[in-house]
Amino acid sequence: MNLFSPLTVGSVELSNRLVMAPLTRMRSGRDGVPGPMVAEHYRQRASLGLIISEGTYPSFAGQAFTGQPGLVTEEQVAGWRKVTDAVHAAGGRIYAQVMHSGRVTHPGINGGREVLAPSAVAINGLTHTYEGKQPYPVPRALAADEIPQVIAEFVAACRNAVDAGFDGVELHGANGYLLHEFLSPAANLRTDGYGGSPENRARFVIELYRAVAAEIGAERTGLRISPEHNVQDALETDPEDLLATYGTLVDAIAPLKPAYLSILHNDPAGHLVQELRRRFDGPVLLNSGFGVETTRDEALEMMDRGLCDAVVVGRPALANPDLVRRWRDDLPLNAPDRSTFYAFGPEGYTDYPEYAGQN
Ligand SMILES: Cc1cc2nc3c(=O)[nH]c(=O)nc-3n(C[C@H](O)[C@H](O)[C@H](O)COP(=O)(O)O)c2cc1C
Repeated sequence: MNLFSPLTVGSVELSNRLVMAPLTRMRSGRDGVPGPMVAEHYRQRASLGLIISEGTYPSFAGQAFTGQPGLVTEEQVAGWRKVTDAVHAAGGRIYAQVMHSGRVTHPGINGGREVLAPSAVAINGLTHTYEGKQPYPVPRALAADEIPQVIAEFVAACRNAVDAGFDGVELHGANGYLLHEFLSPAANLRTDGYGGSPENRARFVIELYRAVAAEIGAERTGLRISPEHNVQDALETDPEDLLATYGTLVDAIAPLKPAYLSILHNDPAGHLVQELRRRFDGPVLLNSGFGVETTRDEALEMMDRGLCDAVVVGRPALANPDLVRRWRDDLPLNAPDRSTFYAFGPEGYTDYPEYAGQN
């Protein structure tokens, strides 16, 4: 088993173990409909074993970024259908990452709607709205009896993803957005059944996972987490609490046989990640986070040491549509251009060239 060997994930067979990370690129316009340029971007990357789409919103209130695509309207579903058709025609596999912003948004992004979170705690910092930079607002804490509605919106969006031709969905439980806000003791100050103890903080994600799996099948439902990532003020600094919280979550969903668990952590070989992997007992995808860009050597080593079943690759896949070939044959790489990560148009999006030399 190595990076370039097949892997079964849920109901699909991947031709290799390089997974394109979810990468927000904000090129779907104000209506959140992915167009032909988005389809071309993903099609170019179909040789990666599995593509995870950029985070897509399950409800308008949960839109985190300008130009972010959604999975709410018929037009959005039709737009995604063209993306998934293009990827499948090129022999690829694609999951939709479904993400709710939680407090990481602003009425100037989500169409003037309320900003919702587990607790009324704002994050420090500024966000890019359609009207320029604004401080993050204090969110409104969701009432317990509103939570079933949030879950119902996720379930509908995940059904839409399957109807749009995605091979499955990844619930975005990482990087400080809604799911992660429930898990983090710094973002979740609730005193009801969804806050306080590790078991209570894990409850929302467990209920959400179960509801989505009941609708589209656990074999089509993955989950991404980033314990101890400590971004966007979703702090998690107590090692015992971390293991209790994420252990509760993993123990609750593992018996359902999820498609995979994707973990973002800067110490993939460490106790926390490997203990969660042992308890999950299904395909685990790993990414070591933003600090250092994933390299070929790191990916090969993670597989050689048996730390995971597949490696999630962000920036190298963004800049190299033919990354699988380049890493397999150890060819030179294009460098990612940060200035076009979150921009408009094809520049830095669909114009990264394939390797043109001989090998
Ligand atoms: C431009 C950009 C956009 C990203 N968008 C998302 C996203 O929508 N969802 C997510 O879970 N992670 C997102 N990430 C994090 C990546 O999935 C990945 O974890 C990170 O880039 C580190 O991996 P790398 O070193 O291979 O790039 C993003 C990262 C970048 C650079």
